Amino acid sequence: MRYPKKTVRLLCVHGPNLNLLGVREPGIYGSKTLAELNREIRSYAASRGVECRFYQSNHEGRIIDFIHRHFREADGMVINPGALTHTSYSLRDAISGTALPTVEVHLSDIHKRESFRRISVIMPVCIKQISGYGEKSYLKGIDVLVERLKKTSG
Ligand code: DQA
Repeated sequence: MRYPKKTVRLLCVHGPNLNLLGVREPGIYGSKTLAELNREIRSYAASRGVECRFYQSNHEGRIIDFIHRHFREADGMVINPGALTHTSYSLRDAISGTALPTVEVHLSDIHKRESFRRISVIMPVCIKQISGYGEKSYLKGIDVLVERLKKTSG
């Protein structure tokens, strides 16, 4: 007997300044607003049987609180930590502490910009970093998690 496919639940987190998408340096980050980006992610996710819970904050602690509040009901997380990528050991500890399979994503290619952006303190606790594909970075992140979850759920 075949069981119905379980919906995969992902947290989709945007860090500081990503609320300014559409206004903020469009040459680097594109002209879509965060609401438009989330709509695109939601619709792609739905096509893969994935449900996303979105969150954005400019505050490190609030992002950590959100992860603590919701990791038990999630199968994985796609996170664009913004500049917290380069600085936040407490966000890194939240990811490793909850053991939530996580993909780090970036709109811009952080390896082709200022040298401080090349270092991610978050990446070592993630299953992958995807950088430089615009909004597609998030969609690729969903793909990576879906594949990983398929493997681990046997
Ligand atoms: C970013 C890259 C970070 O270096 C920057 O601080 C951001 C956005 C990106 O999506 O390209 O806020 O994470």
